[in-house]
Amino acid sequence: MAETLQKVIEENRQGEAYEPFQGDPNQYSKKFYIESYGCQMNFSDSEIVASILNEQGYGATRNFEEANLVLLNTCSIREKAEQTVRNRLQAFRKVKDRNPGMLVGVLGCMAERLKAKFLEEEKLVDIVVGPDAYRSLPGLVAEAEGGQKTVNVLLSREETYADISPVRLDSNGVTAFVSIMRGCNNMCSFCVVPFTRGRERSRDAVSIINECKDLFERGYREVTLLGQNVDSYHYAPENLEDAVTFAKLLEMVALISPKLRIRFSTSHPKDITDDVLHTMAKYDNICKYIHLPVQSGNTRILQLMNRTYTREWYLSKVKRIKEIMPDCALSTDVISGFCTETEEEHQDTLSLIDHCGFDMAYMFSYSERPGTLAERRYEDDVPEEVKKRRLEEIISLQYSHTRENHKMEIGKVFEVLIEGQSKRSELNWSGRNSQNKVVVFPKGEYGLSKGDYVNVKIISTTGATLQGEIVSVN
Ligand code: SAH
Ligand code: SF4
Ligand code: F3S
Repeated sequence: MAETLQKVIEENRQGEAYEPFQGDPNQYSKKFYIESYGCQMNFSDSEIVASILNEQGYGATRNFEEANLVLLNTCSIREKAEQTVRNRLQAFRKVKDRNPGMLVGVLGCMAERLKAKFLEEEKLVDIVVGPDAYRSLPGLVAEAEGGQKTVNVLLSREETYADISPVRLDSNGVTAFVSIMRGCNNMCSFCVVPFTRGRERSRDAVSIINECKDLFERGYREVTLLGQNVDSYHYAPENLEDAVTFAKLLEMVALISPKLRIRFSTSHPKDITDDVLHTMAKYDNICKYIHLPVQSGNTRILQLMNRTYTREWYLSKVKRIKEIMPDCALSTDVISGFCTETEEEHQDTLSLIDHCGFDMAYMFSYSERPGTLAERRYEDDVPEEVKKRRLEEIISLQYSHTRENHKMEIGKVFEVLIEGQSKRSELNWSGRNSQNKVVVFPKGEYGLSKGDYVNVKIISTTGATLQGEIVSVN
């Protein structure tokens, strides 16, 4: 008989779907070192890899010179991201020359893109593993220990690592990433992700909720639900009465505790629904912040990018968000100089930025990626210096909006979750408000700790942060 999701969770399938790792850190005989590049998904995957390696007797170290196994979790999104990885490999070469027994593994999107070619191009690499093949890492490491170079870049339609409990790396103990889906079925013409991460699949909702509950019980106070396109989350096993949509999942996580904050990334403008927006509005602990990548403000370019929405559609989504949640902050991604972009079309991007008044943006110039639709169909014909100049215009306009938006916050009181001590002064706390803005304020005599909530009045702003003072403690 079909059941509701709530019932399945109440029946305490915890041990089945998600089992926190109980290892003893002193049991490790060998050490691994891991560095992650690219998006939050990659950082989250590194925590899965850490868990798999822990079970094989590998403990994490922060010093690669003492590691038996050095891993780079790589990104292919832009040419520059790949160059960074190649430069980093040079640093490992020196250590490997001194210690030939040290194994070097390349994980992630660049491993998936280049496959065995990586072994030819970078002689010091021993192991190449794609994002869906991390369970095979122990076997590959064992083979490599025997002197064999090894590769596994098989993509999967099912793998979500749902049963693997991530080992939190470099954690502040307050905020954590929780992966809810993998892959991407969109085919944005500029983007390499569908090729490096494979088909979209949603993770078992019960395992997600149990992971979030476990984090809360261990003192974490914020989870960020991760996917390339979270709004198309869809979990529909036969034993459930109703499919779990992203809105439903958000609600289930929000109900764990009012003291657990929920964020998510990334939303695609074509898929974010009113249902999601109403769920966000209904729960105070779902943060009022949406990252909604636009890429371009011009409809013809959006079409070439295969984003499947128009400028007007995007603007109407932004309007809808503000109608339902007037206090919701918005950020975006923008690409300058996509194939055939004219000066006028670039102006459309600037006017869209003006119109939306984003709180923050990630801005890039177009970088052609091998194998993508754009590489095969269009000419990368905007000269590099034009892309750069357009990017600078975009950045300078966006910065003026960020500064303006920050100034408007002066005098307001926000609930801030304390994430830790400010980097600049041990007398100050640093945290974020619901809108994802960093707030720094004096600790005072309140005896607070990280993970506590406080109400902070904003008194000034500099660059990307707000400064304030505590008005009350929650
Ligand atoms: N899944 C997310 C984005 C993942 S990639 C989404 O759809 O929004 C993060 C950002 O990198 C993209 O939003 C885009 O702005 C940028 N990007 C992706 N491919 C790029 C390329 N070839 N050149 C420049 N920027 C790119
Ligand atoms: Fe890339 Fe588009 Fe998928 Fe985002 S939605 S990962 S930009 S293909
Ligand atoms: Fe990079 Fe792969 Fe993420 S290409 S942005 S690490 S999905």
